[in-house]
Amino acid sequence: MELNLSTVELCSTKSTREREMPTAELSCKEYTEKIGEMTEDSQIYLANYAAHRPGISRDEMVDRYTKWAETYDQDLCNTGRYHGPTIAANAVAEEFKDGRNSVKILDIGAGTGNFGKEAYKHGFRELHGIDPSSGMLERCQEKHIYKKLLCDFFQRDTPSLENDAYDCTVVAGAMGEGHLSCDCLYEMIRVVKPGGLVVIVMRKEYLDYVNEYKDCLEPLMDKLEGEKKWQKISREIVPNYSFNKEGVVYKFKRE
Ligand SMILES: C[S@@+](CC[C@H](N)C(=O)[O-])C[C@H]1O[C@@H](n2cnc3c(N)ncnc32)[C@H](O)[C@@H]1O
Repeated sequence: MELNLSTVELCSTKSTREREMPTAELSCKEYTEKIGEMTEDSQIYLANYAAHRPGISRDEMVDRYTKWAETYDQDLCNTGRYHGPTIAANAVAEEFKDGRNSVKILDIGAGTGNFGKEAYKHGFRELHGIDPSSGMLERCQEKHIYKKLLCDFFQRDTPSLENDAYDCTVVAGAMGEGHLSCDCLYEMIRVVKPGGLVVIVMRKEYLDYVNEYKDCLEPLMDKLEGEKKWQKISREIVPNYSFNKEGVVYKFKRE
């Protein structure tokens, strides 16, 4: 696993005032210092950080995931370091009590398919996924859960996705630096059916320091509600989303 502490170390030279501002570097430094820089937990935190580093390009992000794909499940999902897929699957299951086997779900940023694995346990069968990382999708395919996988970025007017096609779109862990942009909210609304469900599960602190989201993501969510594009069902803070950090779970119903 390739580790680079240089950006983390950089923040030790910042002024006291700057250190009080939430940043990706500071959050990373605090985490690794708390648990010790040589532990497996901190190494895996840094592998995750490498795919989310401030200023990362989309291509570098995809490359990071493709290189990480082989051990991603073991590093994050099977070892209790990351609970996004379980939280997301529970959130979707709460809203679909009956007929789950025919609920059509698009998993945005499906990765190695851990949301699908959890959703399958709840009885969901009509699962599609989209992700630009071929390496992550190869691991996903091995699980034989998704009926369709698209190797592409989810973005405004994704060509391969039709209007009103899904009963539900879900995002587990695909929000972050260089990941889904704010205008993907429009795309979620476009591809979900009227009355359908949009679920987004993400690390809460990204709202404070990912430039794309800070002062933008939640205001846009509210604006879309004001324009009657969707209605917020809930916004819930959950503990221990990943690396013992809080997550936020949004549920919206498309108007
Ligand atoms: C932390 S992984 C989460 C994977 C999976 N959802 C899970 O919970 O294990 C983030 C995934 O989002 C994908 N991703 C990032 N930007 C994306 C975009 N614009 N469209 C679709 N997927 C994207 C990455 O390739 C990566 O596989």
